[in-house]
Amino acid sequence: MEPKIMDNARPIVEMRDIAKTFGSTRALRGVNFTVMRGEVHALLGRNGAGKSTLVSTLSGYVSADTGSIRIGEVEVEAVGQNYAPSIRKLIAHVQQTPQLFNLLTVAENLFVENPLVRRGFGVVSHKLMLERAAGLLDEWNMDIQPRSLAGELGAGTRQLLEIMKALSRGVPVMILDEPTAALSNAEKRILFEHVRALKAKGVSFVYISHHLDEVFEIADTVTILRDGKVVKEREPVERLDVETIADLMMGEKTVRSTRQDFMADEAPILLQARGIRLDRFSEKDIDFEVRAGEIVALAGPVGGGKEALAMVLAGQQRPEDGEVISPRGKLPTIGLVPTDRHASGYVGILGVRENVAIGGLDVLSGKLGFISKGKEARHVGRLAQQTNVIASSLEQAVSQLSGGNQQKVVFARALCRAPEVIVALSPTRGVDVGAKEQLYSLLRDLASKGLGVVVVSDEEDEIDQLANRVVIVFEGHVVDELVGEYTIKDLILRMEGVV
Ligand SMILES: Nc1ncnc2c1ncn2[C@@H]1O[C@H](COP(=O)(O)OP(=O)(O)OP(=O)(O)O)[C@@H](O)[C@H]1O
Ligand SMILES: [Mg+2]
Repeated sequence: MEPKIMDNARPIVEMRDIAKTFGSTRALRGVNFTVMRGEVHALLGRNGAGKSTLVSTLSGYVSADTGSIRIGEVEVEAVGQNYAPSIRKLIAHVQQTPQLFNLLTVAENLFVENPLVRRGFGVVSHKLMLERAAGLLDEWNMDIQPRSLAGELGAGTRQLLEIMKALSRGVPVMILDEPTAALSNAEKRILFEHVRALKAKGVSFVYISHHLDEVFEIADTVTILRDGKVVKEREPVERLDVETIADLMMGEKTVRSTRQDFMADEAPILLQARGIRLDRFSEKDIDFEVRAGEIVALAGPVGGGKEALAMVLAGQQRPEDGEVISPRGKLPTIGLVPTDRHASGYVGILGVRENVAIGGLDVLSGKLGFISKGKEARHVGRLAQQTNVIASSLEQAVSQLSGGNQQKVVFARALCRAPEVIVALSPTRGVDVGAKEQLYSLLRDLASKGLGVVVVSDEEDEIDQLANRVVIVFEGHVVDELVGEYTIKDLILRMEGVV
């Protein structure tokens, strides 16, 4: 499949004058984008800037309104007709929204489209497929069975599977759209190793992420989109810093806020977990409480128990032992932002209004159980504004929103019932730097009104900016706690100490 003439000076991807309009939204307004051989090219921009749309026109997943594309030796009019088949051998695209088949096995998902496991007449050899899958899983250090159903795996494992599937296709151009959204640090390391190894062989990457630290670690070149236009083209990453990138993305200065403490001295306990044993293997119990006005973060390695503890607190998961109570008797209303938005956060075909209202049908309905349309529209409108959802209207299907805006809808849903406690797992996943600050200020505002806020996060900056208390959970129990005036260095040391 190697091209006959390796011309390294000529871009492997050349997109010219790409424009795309969805209804009244001008997602792309004449974008040029090039990728060189063996480079990792980061494509950045705020939520809705057009990143996913641009790479989707590149892979042929959506057609553009104007423009042309060349990948390797293949030139296509990016308009109208489906050209995905003509570039199949040149490009792989890991999309922002997961595409695995939940009812197929891991092996089937990995090789369903791969000719490597076909024998004569195109018949799939199951034996070969299982062998190849086992080999690939081994190479990626993944401890899962080729025969497991994809739907039964955790979000991180599923994301890694999609990436593995794409990277093992042996194509010269790879698109990774927010590939690390559901990955643990360890999984991220595995991904980066593979990216580096493939890059050394001349494979090119288009890398989309809202984690600028990742961009500095893995990317060579940066292009920034804003409102469907390129505002920085092919800048070497060494010439940029986080602030410059953030300002270019947002078109204005973004100020990083710092944490504030809203908890009164005698703040009442809203929620109390006593003697929690997360699973049969936990050796120690967890005792944990959330007070009014407190923002507490649960930190620690993925799978160490912080997510499970949060789900127990939210009443979504039953602990092996122990109980969650409230000193006031009745348990408080809890708003949950789940970790895997695609699986349990929203219903894509429904609009923003319906998705948010699902979170609080009881509070929106009157005595007879009917929903008051006016009340609903006002309530949802206010929540969408608070969470900064950007959509063409409240009726727009959530599947049509950009990834970051889907996450904001999930957040708005969690707030719909006027909760007294918020439990938010990775609340700003996929959200741009500006909207992140808006969500942080919203959480602070809620704490200032006496809500208890529990945040589960893997981002040190996020924890540092928000939490007055950090509880580190490792191997199913609480191993450490930081309270009050800790520094980010304290935090990193404690977090590293357990990883
Ligand atoms: N199928 C669609 N129908 C209608 N509008 C769409 C569709 N897909 C994307 N859009 C709109 O196009 C714009 C660009 O979206 P896109 O998904 O490319 O943003 P993005 O840069 O990837 O953002 P994010 O960082 O949040 O993922 C947004 O306003 C989005 O709502
Ligand atoms: Mg996107």
